[in-house]
Amino acid sequence: MNFQHDIIIVGAGLAGLRAAVECVDRADVAVVSKVLPTRSHSGAAQGGIAASLGNEEEDNWEWHMFDTVKGSDYLADQDAVEIMVRDAPRVIYELEHMGVPFSRNAAGKIAQRNFGGHTQDYGKRPVKRACHASDRTGRVVLDTLFDQCLRKNVKFYQEQYVLSLVFEEGKCMGVVTYDLSSGELNLIAARAVLLATGGCGKIYKTTSNGFASTGDGFGLAYQSGIPLQDMEFIQIHPTGLYPLGILVSEAARGEGGILRNKMGERFMERYAPTVKDLAPRDIVSRSILTEVKEGRGFDRDYVHLDLMHLGEERIMEKLWEITSFVRIYLGIDPVKDPIPVLPTIHYIMGGIPTDSEGRVFIDEKGTVVQGLFAAGECACVSVHGGNRLGCNSLLDLLVFGRRSGIAMKQYISESGTSTISYEPLKMVQAKIDGLLDHKGKEKIDDIRRMMQSLMMDRCSVFRNEGGLKKGIEETRSLKERYRDINIENKGPSYNYELMEAIELGHQLELAEVILLSALNRKESRGAHFRDDFPERDDTNYLKHTLVFLNEKPDVRYKPVKITRFKPQPRNY
Ligand code: FUM
Repeated sequence: MNFQHDIIIVGAGLAGLRAAVECVDRADVAVVSKVLPTRSHSGAAQGGIAASLGNEEEDNWEWHMFDTVKGSDYLADQDAVEIMVRDAPRVIYELEHMGVPFSRNAAGKIAQRNFGGHTQDYGKRPVKRACHASDRTGRVVLDTLFDQCLRKNVKFYQEQYVLSLVFEEGKCMGVVTYDLSSGELNLIAARAVLLATGGCGKIYKTTSNGFASTGDGFGLAYQSGIPLQDMEFIQIHPTGLYPLGILVSEAARGEGGILRNKMGERFMERYAPTVKDLAPRDIVSRSILTEVKEGRGFDRDYVHLDLMHLGEERIMEKLWEITSFVRIYLGIDPVKDPIPVLPTIHYIMGGIPTDSEGRVFIDEKGTVVQGLFAAGECACVSVHGGNRLGCNSLLDLLVFGRRSGIAMKQYISESGTSTISYEPLKMVQAKIDGLLDHKGKEKIDDIRRMMQSLMMDRCSVFRNEGGLKKGIEETRSLKERYRDINIENKGPSYNYELMEAIELGHQLELAEVILLSALNRKESRGAHFRDDFPERDDTNYLKHTLVFLNEKPDVRYKPVKITRFKPQPRNY
């Protein structure tokens, strides 16, 4: 079937819904989501949203900016960071007015708590900057924005998977979707398209990410000739619930939780003497794995997170959801027992290169793709550089989701209408038929499992040239095997096997991009730590990576924007 709207937003997480709320007053807006909208992964965000409200202690946007830039290991573009942190207090009050039930402090103001890397006075001591709703912040913000969208009559195409972007003379003019319930293809034409599809954590074996985080937006952009930026920077959250990798929010340490090794030592005192357990994630994850490697972990692969001294009342008020996960999945009670934790893949700092209005760049010179926008985790503005600070993610989604909404309204008011001169549905149908008709011998599950394991082994916390080269070879061999997959389910309705096959195609491409970007960055910066190049090298690598899909993936670079803060050694 064919549909037409002014604006299509792909993805129903916080970035997509915030953009929809912003532009629906002046445009006919539709959101396409491969899951039911309120199942989007933003709903799993626990800890909070960073904003220098100063409700608990003195704070200001410039300290927030300094922390974000230092946290990024000086790779973030500082003009974009300044926009984000200056806008943060407004974002929080706006959500409050929309109905988000934030936790309150004794004075009745929005409560704020500590999070890693957020400090007062340019790194002197931790500051309480994370605005939160207990440990369900993402859930309540997602539900509130969804309600706002329904109130404003945003149209939803739910359980529809985007298979292709539609371009006419270089201009993005819509998407082709696969309707999971009927198996039919739809052409949804639009004058502007926003990619807000979230992250790609499911490329890895142990991750805090949900099943839908398969990197679809990155894949759609990359296949359309758009480069991917800084994909080597994968955030590994220090505290995944052992052995599953489910998130145990940093809020637990923000509320006073302590990491301990098997001797009971508070080992973070040795790695980050000033902020200790509240160091940024890249540093805490490396510290945990160093403890484990040197024999001070439990069973050779995890450490303990100790909340017991906080007391039952505080734990149940501030960390209710985490506590219930630990009780349900491990049968352990955090009020009485320490929680076993291990680092887990959590977030990607890189993505589709955009400016601060969500406009997508097609090259290193800043040429903009007409009609195409990106926001949220799939985009790289870049405000997180080499390592994102906790609670800056929801902030990024809300600030740049809104700005993309404004930019799309402006774009459609200025751009003329044009028509699609070919039949995208026929081309995509041929691809689907090809996949279903091919009688191969490879199973999707096998290839996916191997990809997830190799990414975990070759490209997680510690990396080196030998492992990365091996990882690229292994990925290329899996790509060959992928050509011979067999899809057993030929049915039209809820054919998840077909959807997973298409997702896997994207994931293999992204795995190769991540490995190649990591191989070419011969230094250590933020979450990218090379055993063979353990120091940061500003002379040669203070620059953003861009990978283009040419005959072979092609690696290029572009400069970092530095305004207020010159790179310095990064100690905590
Ligand atoms: O630990 C957490 O609650 C995660 C927050 C974030 O990724 O920003």
